[in-house]
Amino acid sequence: MGKFSTYKRFLLNDDISRYEPGKTLPGQKFLEEIEHDFIEPTAKFLLDEPALQLMASERCTDEQYFKVLGQFWNFERSVGALHANWLLGYKLGPNGEYQEVEYMEVRQIWEEFKHARLYEDAVLRLGYLDSRWEFHAHPFCQLIPEGMALLNFLQGMSRYPIPVRAAANHLASEAPFIGWFEKAGRVVRNPLVAGSFGAQVLEETGHANIGRYVVMKYADTSELQAMCRWACQMTLDYTKRFGIALYDWLQKEEASQLAVVEQWHKRSGKSR
Ligand SMILES: [Fe+2]
Ligand SMILES: [Fe+2]
Repeated sequence: MGKFSTYKRFLLNDDISRYEPGKTLPGQKFLEEIEHDFIEPTAKFLLDEPALQLMASERCTDEQYFKVLGQFWNFERSVGALHANWLLGYKLGPNGEYQEVEYMEVRQIWEEFKHARLYEDAVLRLGYLDSRWEFHAHPFCQLIPEGMALLNFLQGMSRYPIPVRAAANHLASEAPFIGWFEKAGRVVRNPLVAGSFGAQVLEETGHANIGRYVVMKYADTSELQAMCRWACQMTLDYTKRFGIALYDWLQKEEASQLAVVEQWHKRSGKSR
């Protein structure tokens, strides 16, 4: 076995008792550990996150609102798409294990695309763009590099066992944001933007509960549990970096750079 090999072992560090083989925690205990170590501290941290504070203040500009909505729009769509991708590779257990998870994820795909539509509606009603088609090519609606990194990591979870995916996506990535969406629905100054966040609380709670169910029921070996801890930690690192980079990007005024698009429209004789 190679010194750093994880093949068929997935023991990230033999000296850390947590990762010892044969130390499998019962499902409920393991879920409690994940909630305590990863979800709760992140949820707390997110409530004072600077982009949310910015949107809760009067100083948030239209460009800043639009950038946040554009990034969230892209991310929601991409998460919907990655669940669709995961489903293509589903293999049920010998007794049909995971068929119920399939059903839950099918529903989730629809909901993620619906969340993207909520942002579209807000952007259109605020008069930031003229049509839904514009989102797909708009520079502010393309994920910034750190957002792309998080998305790419989550997409790569397709190569991991289903409970590890659930830990990364449903638990580390979605569960901590329920409180964020709830608070955003209350404190964001612009009521249309606030509404597009607040309307997602119920469904995101459902998504987090998919993760709780899958991890509790199916992360049933010490190897799977070790992988879940690792996946949660990685997801949180990526999420934090995305948050920091998003806020930095919001500080730059870039609307003037969009003039080139304006000129293109003039040249092609189309009105905007
Ligand atoms: Fe969502
Ligand atoms: Fe979700």
